[in-house]
Amino acid sequence: MRKSLPGAATLAALAVLSSCSSPKPEPPKTMKIRKQPFGQTKNGESVELYTLTNRNGVETSITNYGGRVVTLKVPDRAGKFADVVLGFDTLDGYLGNSPYFGALIGRYGNRIGKAKFTLDGKEYKLAANNGPNALHGGVLGFDKVVWNGEQGAGEEPSLKLNYLSKDGEEGYPGNLSVTVVYTLTDRNELKIDYAASTDKDTVLNLTNHSYFNLAGEGVGDILNHEIMINADRFTPIDSGLIPTGELRPVKGTPFDLTKPVAIGAHINDKDQQILFGKGYDHNFVLNGGGLALAARVVEPKSGRVMEVLTTQPGVQFYTGNFLDGSVQGKGGKAYPHRSAFCLETQHFPDSPNKPDFPSVVLKPGEKFESTTVYRFTAR
Ligand code: GLA
Repeated sequence: MRKSLPGAATLAALAVLSSCSSPKPEPPKTMKIRKQPFGQTKNGESVELYTLTNRNGVETSITNYGGRVVTLKVPDRAGKFADVVLGFDTLDGYLGNSPYFGALIGRYGNRIGKAKFTLDGKEYKLAANNGPNALHGGVLGFDKVVWNGEQGAGEEPSLKLNYLSKDGEEGYPGNLSVTVVYTLTDRNELKIDYAASTDKDTVLNLTNHSYFNLAGEGVGDILNHEIMINADRFTPIDSGLIPTGELRPVKGTPFDLTKPVAIGAHINDKDQQILFGKGYDHNFVLNGGGLALAARVVEPKSGRVMEVLTTQPGVQFYTGNFLDGSVQGKGGKAYPHRSAFCLETQHFPDSPNKPDFPSVVLKPGEKFESTTVYRFTAR
């Protein structure tokens, strides 16, 4: 690996250290993270773009506006790199009509039925921004705020983002302090570590909403990608995409993705659940425990493979059913129907209203932690 030369400040610090007998100077770190201006929000807040590069030349750029993954360049079986996430070249794209491209989602990712929930006997009302329901944290969710960004600790390139969501913001109780660390590992993984704490009982569901196309963003649809999801059950939905509360076995349904199958194989089946989702837009109940394999997607032509590992109990598999070519992405390319898929690791949708689902309540004194890994290989 090429070592970068230490700057003057580092040399001065090393000189001071070497004049003392202990402690021994640490060798200069070679982490590669670059920071560039990415423009300003409509309120005049400055936004940055951070670029992380690992020792294999895999590169991702992430902005602190919404913590969005803007680019992610990974090799195919011949070593040819492509950017596998949908997005925009400039901040303006993200400030406009972006369907959560690359974004961190919170305080509550996915839907909350009738845009309300009761916690400790008190009812909390949220913005109904998806029909009668609340979606992805509200009108100004975590995807639309400016996070504090700084280089993370550790040998591998990482970006640490912080955001303080105030008590009452978007209707949610408690000051919630959130930290998200993106690390680009030398195993070609984009690792996302989430942590949060609160000063009042609250609910949370944090995820990342990257849209992937393993042939490269803007290269056709994803119907020939093969998917495996490590889930024997899913949470069926009503016509508003709110879970009914049932955990239904996938066996014998288009949701049996336990063995690799083309995404397009059953996406137009006359199945009630597929019709409600207009394709796949469903939460799967993961079989795992610990940091376990949730899904594997293979793009047969390029050979690119993405594995998703998570500590979370669920994953929303969404096949870009609302993309319709009206959004102009990178290089002015239109992103047509089903030209990407999302695997949003998460707690189940509408958990605040579903006492039988795993709890999403966070209390003062507790620390929420979760990890998701998107691992890239080729075959
Ligand atoms: C999520 C939802 C979808 C859709 C997208 C954004 O994945 O489940 O229904 O709202 O976000 O367009």
